[in-house]
Amino acid sequence: MVCLVESVIQPKFKSLHYTHNSSLIKFKSKEYNATIEFYWSPLLVESNSDDPLMHRLPDRIVRIQEIEKHARYWTDADIIVFNTYLWWKRTYMTMIWGSFEDAEHGIYKEVPMLRSYEMALKTWSDWVEIHVNHTKTKMFFIGMSPTHQTADEWGKRREENCYSETWPIMKQDYWGRGSNKNMMGIVGDALAKLRDRGVDVKLINITQLSEYRKEAHPSIYRKQWDALTEEQLRNPSSYSDCNHWCLPGVPDVWNELLYAHIFGYS
Ligand SMILES: *[C@@H]1O[C@H](CO)[C@@H](O)[C@H](O)[C@H]1NC(C)=O
Ligand SMILES: *[C@@H]1O[C@H](CO)[C@@H](O)[C@H](O)[C@H]1NC(C)=O
Ligand SMILES: *[C@@H]1O[C@H](CO)[C@@H](O)[C@H](O)[C@H]1NC(C)=O
Ligand SMILES: *[C@@H]1O[C@H](CO)[C@@H](O)[C@H](O)[C@H]1NC(C)=O
Repeated sequence: MVCLVESVIQPKFKSLHYTHNSSLIKFKSKEYNATIEFYWSPLLVESNSDDPLMHRLPDRIVRIQEIEKHARYWTDADIIVFNTYLWWKRTYMTMIWGSFEDAEHGIYKEVPMLRSYEMALKTWSDWVEIHVNHTKTKMFFIGMSPTHQTADEWGKRREENCYSETWPIMKQDYWGRGSNKNMMGIVGDALAKLRDRGVDVKLINITQLSEYRKEAHPSIYRKQWDALTEEQLRNPSSYSDCNHWCLPGVPDVWNELLYAHIFGYS
């Protein structure tokens, strides 16, 4: 979103603020007295993977009932755009009741992912209802961003992925395994319950339009954090990124839809 708006603003009228280990990045447009903030909390609720630098933990643990640590940064915005999906993609989630500081005395449970996703969205909904002034603040939830990890979905070998793809999927009404419709249903239900309580959070349903775009991921053309091994170099699909998206690209379309909703063209 910042890419879309910042190019038309002269350098002296804009600024970017962040510290190397902060979850919050702020973009400011001085002339318009407007701020666009990005706050990174991949599971919305609190977890042991929240650190913006040190978050690649195999043993992910969520504090399913706690969100305030992150959410206190969101309360006063005029427009809030939420989203959480990819980080939930595993069969079970470990939850802790108790604190990470005193992890030894915590109570731990393994919970099936769908149930834990539902619980997290309940925590989030309760927070939204109580802490956000929904007369003043417009709220949106962006749907799942699909992945293209297994090429048999579009008629190639299962071991292949988005690597070397140059053309969208041209099937009618296409859905691949990169979207979890059960999770989509849980988001839909959470938003419907909020609506019943008088709180309007609009879903920007970008999933299927993105499903077609197997060619729009960075694949091998991204920054690599570690040097590639001989074996990886021989097999480029093994290090292809089929989760994130190229820019300019599909996320610009998501932003255009958001724009249409904010200004009421929908
Ligand atoms: C960020 O790093 C600074 C020093 O490097 C430290 O004092 C601070 O607590 C860190 N903040 C977070 C959120 O980890
Ligand atoms: C800029 O926005 C802030 C927060 O909404 C407001 O308090 C302030 O008065 C505004 N400044 C100007 C110059 O409009
Ligand atoms: C919520 O926002 C509206 C519109 O800006 C304002 O009139 C109202 O006082 C706010 N309510 C609270 C509880 O701050
Ligand atoms: C999102 O859109 C798809 C069609 O692209 C539809 O099947 C699905 O039900 C929608 N999801 C929700 C939660 O409304």
